[in-house]
Amino acid sequence: VSDDTTGQDPQTRAKEDAGRHAAGYVTDGMRVGLGTGSTVHWTIVELGERAPDIVCTATSVQTHDLALSLGLEVVSPDEIGHLDIAIDGADEVDPSFNLTKGGGNAHTREKIIASMADRFLVVVDDTKLVDQLGPFGTPIEVLGFAPAVVAAAVQALGAGEIVTRPVRSDNGNLVMLAHFGTIADPVALGARLAEVPGLVEHGIFPGSMVERVVVAGADGTRELVNPR
Ligand code: 5RP
Repeated sequence: VSDDTTGQDPQTRAKEDAGRHAAGYVTDGMRVGLGTGSTVHWTIVELGERAPDIVCTATSVQTHDLALSLGLEVVSPDEIGHLDIAIDGADEVDPSFNLTKGGGNAHTREKIIASMADRFLVVVDDTKLVDQLGPFGTPIEVLGFAPAVVAAAVQALGAGEIVTRPVRSDNGNLVMLAHFGTIADPVALGARLAEVPGLVEHGIFPGSMVERVVVAGADGTRELVNPR
């Protein structure tokens, strides 16, 4: 039973807290990458309410449409060229700041946008913090040309079950969830997955990309700063 007077369950409340908090890093004149998901949703809502003088680019059609509906200026990644900051959610965060992303099928565009940014901030509720990546599964975006061939190559790298999602990515490709169990060395696995022909992108983001993680839970919001 929640005593939250907003009527939100604690996890939803934590997502809103983390998302809104991260919007504080956005100031006038910035070029901003907007992530995808129910946590960064609140960053975008906060930016829409505050209406700073910024130009944005979006990691999904869903985020593009949300940002536009809130009055934010949204242009393509090619038009914006470089980003001062990108803010996005994650499905898992390990103690070395490695991430699993792609729960919303958007990890290919999310990785491009994160790679364009001077600062990459991640917003999560505290259920996303894990000792090792893996329990969520690793999303992989796969060309529709030879999905069974790609899946076999991913199994050869140690995946057990691989489940194809019913919904394609915004890029029109298949998205699969590959289950590796707990992943001892996510950066190494990511490098191996990147070599599989036909595998467009995987959802492991190395901790070296991440500046900080805004984490919200029942006890409030805190920041984990990556010493890198
Ligand atoms: C989408 C993502 C999301 O950032 C991730 O799934 C987290 O989403 P949420 O904040 O809704 O839990 O990677 O592809």
